[in-house]
Amino acid sequence: MPPKEGSHYDLPIALGLMAALGAVPGDALSAYVVLGELSLDGTIAAVAGALPAAIGANAEGKGLICPHASGPEAAWAGADIDILAPRSLIAIANHFRGTQVLSRPEASVHVAASNLPDLADIKGQESARRALEVAAAGGHNLLMVGPPGSGKSMLAQRLPSILPRLQPKELLEVSMIASMAGELAGGRLTDRRPFRAPHHSASMAALVGGGLRARPGEVSLAHNGVLFLDELPEFSPQALDALRQPLETGECVIARANHRVAYPARIQLIAAMNPCRCGMAGEPGYRCARGPRCQTDYQARISGPLLDRIDLRIEVPAVSAGELIRPGRAEASAAVAARVLAAREIQQERLDRLGVAATTNAHCPTALIEEIAAPDAAGLTLLRDASEKLGFSARAYHRVLRVARTLADLDRSGTVGRIHLAEAISYRISAERMAQAA
Ligand SMILES: Nc1ncnc2c1ncn2[C@@H]1O[C@H](COP(=O)(O)OP(=O)(O)OP(=O)(O)O)[C@@H](O)[C@H]1O
Ligand SMILES: [Mg+2]
Repeated sequence: MPPKEGSHYDLPIALGLMAALGAVPGDALSAYVVLGELSLDGTIAAVAGALPAAIGANAEGKGLICPHASGPEAAWAGADIDILAPRSLIAIANHFRGTQVLSRPEASVHVAASNLPDLADIKGQESARRALEVAAAGGHNLLMVGPPGSGKSMLAQRLPSILPRLQPKELLEVSMIASMAGELAGGRLTDRRPFRAPHHSASMAALVGGGLRARPGEVSLAHNGVLFLDELPEFSPQALDALRQPLETGECVIARANHRVAYPARIQLIAAMNPCRCGMAGEPGYRCARGPRCQTDYQARISGPLLDRIDLRIEVPAVSAGELIRPGRAEASAAVAARVLAAREIQQERLDRLGVAATTNAHCPTALIEEIAAPDAAGLTLLRDASEKLGFSARAYHRVLRVARTLADLDRSGTVGRIHLAEAISYRISAERMAQAA
């Protein structure tokens, strides 16, 4: 349903009046759901939510009358839906009179430009590149910690170039949310995964949704894609806390005085931060002006429960001059994307076979993860030792298994072995260390 505020009802009211006056046939109108805003000169202005409205109308066996500019968006709801997208009241009257028949709007695809920033630009940073690939392959959350200028933002911005395209069902979900938020420019849909990077000054309503019209927030606009929070500790603690629920349930609930709205929010969280306020803690040969407190105070701004939801945590050290000068380009995104896609297909096939709606290891139900990521004997010994020594929470234990499953999938290995668990645990250890500091 489109939000009930706004001027969506201008056009229905006007058409109702015209039907009463006999300018349009009332019985023909009753086969349509109508929405649109009316300008004073009789032209019909675009409104948000045309795509969900078209899907809703179709479910009731009706057609849709919507503004001309919203037509291409509504047409996505299906080829068999009767959609009229007039520019003006005259046009709709002429259509019903048969003097000027409106043609059905075309669903337009935005051919996603392939000029996304490419991983080939990044020198060195082998382990960060590996972590980014693992995160992309399994849909895992990732936190990058490092000094200023080490390339954290640069790495995050290159994630879209290695993520697989949206599947048709995902594309529709993403577009419905964008439509509700009035963000489908020209009604053109793209099969690129959303990549949302709100500034740390973003309000809580902007982040998780809300406001007068219960508009979807960044976390929902990132559904089926990436939410990138750069300078993580600079976000308000309340805003970060509000992310905990969507991260766990894949849904974002906005409670209003008289009703509640739930938007989908199955996201991959990518976050970046400096290790301390001055940014240099832990760098060789550097001493923080404020001593170790500089680091603990800064990292404590991120709550333990939020950190617990981040599967991969890596340190991104400064690149050495030697690496920057070294000629030649690093591996390009296309090659990495191919490995990511192969690993995703393995996951998809497995989850389909099990009859689970999830598409990635990160979102596979917890009850199933122990089964699909059951380690071999050597892996089990390692996992048991590590959990005891590091005091893993139950969530940490399952998250390690998820990452290990992804590492095995990248290896095209059916079984989760010691080597996969060792790498998965290493991504976890730095997170545990940070939680203890907090
Ligand atoms: N590995 C790298 N290879 C090539 N250029 C790099 C690399 N790392 C950093 N740079 C250069 O440094 C600039 C800053 O990088 P970036 O903004 O990603 O750093 P950052 O880690 O996000 O820093 P901050 O903590 O200050 O936000 C980049 O625009 C790029 O020119
Ligand atoms: Mg940055």
